[in-house]
Amino acid sequence: GTSRKDDLLAGGSTVPLDPETLAERAAAALDPGPRAYLVGGAETEGSVRENRRAFDRWRIRPRVLRDTSTRDHRVTVGDERLSHPVALAPIGMQSLYDDQAEEATARAAGRTGTALCLSTVSSVSLEAVAREQDAAAEADGGTETPVRWFQAYWSGREVTASMVRRAERAGYSALVLTVDTPVTGWRTRELSSEYVPFDHGHGLANYASDPVVRERLGDDPDDEAVAAVVAECLGDASLDWDDVAWLRERTALPLYLKGVMHPDDAARAADVADGVVVSNHGGRQVDGELAALDALEPVAEAVDNRVPVLFDSGIRTGADVFRALALGADAVLLGRPYCSGLTLAGEDGVRDVVRNLRAAFDLTLELSGYAAAESVDREAVVRVARG
Ligand code: FNR
Repeated sequence: GTSRKDDLLAGGSTVPLDPETLAERAAAALDPGPRAYLVGGAETEGSVRENRRAFDRWRIRPRVLRDTSTRDHRVTVGDERLSHPVALAPIGMQSLYDDQAEEATARAAGRTGTALCLSTVSSVSLEAVAREQDAAAEADGGTETPVRWFQAYWSGREVTASMVRRAERAGYSALVLTVDTPVTGWRTRELSSEYVPFDHGHGLANYASDPVVRERLGDDPDDEAVAAVVAECLGDASLDWDDVAWLRERTALPLYLKGVMHPDDAARAADVADGVVVSNHGGRQVDGELAALDALEPVAEAVDNRVPVLFDSGIRTGADVFRALALGADAVLLGRPYCSGLTLAGEDGVRDVVRNLRAAFDLTLELSGYAAAESVDREAVVRVARG
């Protein structure tokens, strides 16, 4: 068969291969408001830059003469088998980037056998996303069961519990409670653009279709009324470990906490939840924050294999995926790059971003002497002084 490289030499990518070019092209294609929302970070955006720099301090130390002629990308996360270690991070309001929004992303996930984490503030309902992902996986003759997780933003007990029940029914296999965003950060670019996506009808679908919300607003609520409910539900910084315990009791789904950076929080999460996502929200919450990659190893040590450790914030290349696995991640989430793909070429753009990244990761495995994603260990990387 042909390799991804042959395919690419024949013009087989709808999106640029270089991650910076990909980001630049997508930014250029967007209106100022959506652009600010996608690329922005907190205050000076130092944490966004630091997330990338951190990868430069970890270098891969290849092994040679170990047969890597066939490779196994599969990884295990809790009780689930993922066909490869790159999942799609929860990114809200994808109608900012493409008319088909999360439906396009769900189809790309289904076609590529990629796990999908759907945001609470998606522009397509969680049920419709599930249908699209399943249909695309089936059309592609995929043998694996599509994997999808639901990312919960705390929306008060009643609405949160309702969405969790819906996610269970729609075949989501884990809940990812985001704990680093009780309120959104001071995002200079976004604030300067004076653009509020909710006010333009983006990101409301899960609320607009929720029975608890409909009980209040009637069966066909207008965007303005829904946006008012969302404004009321979201943004509660009183969220604490008691709420986590409360949620834990209400569902049989594994509960992962997203945005854990401190090893003490990670140790506690391993006691009361089912996994952690090491993440600084792509540098969007706190400026001057530790790079997510620099938080990974201490968290992995604190968790000590009791629960899965996922990672995001700054993943751009195959070598990045490899380095995160080496430092203790069981799988990684990809954020902005797939939304850039969505912006430039819709479903095919997301598909190609994932395929390109996976192909580059595959070659990194092959050339570094690791035949399986799960065999990438701490020995595979070395920390160097800033280069
Ligand atoms: C996000 N992120 C995010 N996280 C979350 O839990 N729920 C959400 O709705 C969103 N929405 C969102 C929108 C946009 C435009 C971005 C860029 C990010 C954070 C996301 O899940 C992830 O943590 C980061 O995007 C990962 O960093 P990279 O890969 O973008 O550097």
